[in-house]
Amino acid sequence: MADFFKLYSDYYRVPGEYTFKGVYYASYVRKEVLERPDIFKIKPDDCFVVSYPKSGTTWTLELAQLIMNKGDTSHTESAHHFDRVPYIEYYYPKFPQWDGLKLMEGLKSPRLLKSQLPLHLFPPQALEMGCKMIFVARNPKDVAVSYYHFYQTVPEYGDYKGQFSDFLKMFMNKKVVHGDWFDFVLDWWKYIKDNNVLFLKYEDMIKNPRAATMKIANYLNYDLSDDVIDRITDYCSFDKMKANKVVNFEEIEGHEFIRKGQKGDWRNHFTVAESEAFDKIYEERMKDSGLSFEW
Ligand code: A3P
Repeated sequence: MADFFKLYSDYYRVPGEYTFKGVYYASYVRKEVLERPDIFKIKPDDCFVVSYPKSGTTWTLELAQLIMNKGDTSHTESAHHFDRVPYIEYYYPKFPQWDGLKLMEGLKSPRLLKSQLPLHLFPPQALEMGCKMIFVARNPKDVAVSYYHFYQTVPEYGDYKGQFSDFLKMFMNKKVVHGDWFDFVLDWWKYIKDNNVLFLKYEDMIKNPRAATMKIANYLNYDLSDDVIDRITDYCSFDKMKANKVVNFEEIEGHEFIRKGQKGDWRNHFTVAESEAFDKIYEERMKDSGLSFEW
């Protein structure tokens, strides 16, 4: 099977990316926080949204922020998503205003924070304090497709012109930024199972967006009226988020962050042979985990 996804040694590299403990990180992940996960000043009432890239993070964060604002959209409308929600490990000279460490320090509590750090590099204080945490995960076939488009369109990722099959080989060989989907999700899953983490699947959110809003509100202990829940769900619907200039990056970076928003787009990209080979690896890696995804 390894042969099926055999990777050539001259595979694509994102400009400035580096490895830390065997995992690739984009240059916008501040190395200092990987070396010293205890650098963050965490507060007990911090709430994190954690995910592997392209899993519905932005959607989940918008929902959580609106819930914490009891449905008041004025704050959400007035500033760019990245200004409002610190991405704690982020630092990129082109966008110094989104310095995660600085932004989180200036934020009033309770703070909503984003992270895509693996469990072993996540701020240990947050785990010790039992901070609220929402983990959103998506089936890895659609993650691979979404990530492929991200690589093609995000200026910071260079000028990726490879075919999907080349990208899939990188994805399956732990050569993409943030490393292997299975390692990331399964490590976190061990923690999630035994702790008070809200675990959301993107596919469930698509199927029943209102239920997702309710789950987040209940988890965060916000007792909101049906009307407010409806309004938040609608405000964060795919079409509205796609049209929302402070969420979609189109104006700032020239690419669309909110792309297609569907389950099953992998069918338009995987060959039958790729899908079958992927399924075998998926079965092998996921067996005994008690975790499964719909696609
Ligand atoms: P696609 O590229 O498949 O369209 P993240 O925020 O973790 O980077 O995830 C991005 C993915 O979530 C993209 O998937 C994006 O379109 C999708 N997404 C963002 N907002 C959404 C929404 N409101 N409803 C459904 N999907 C959404």
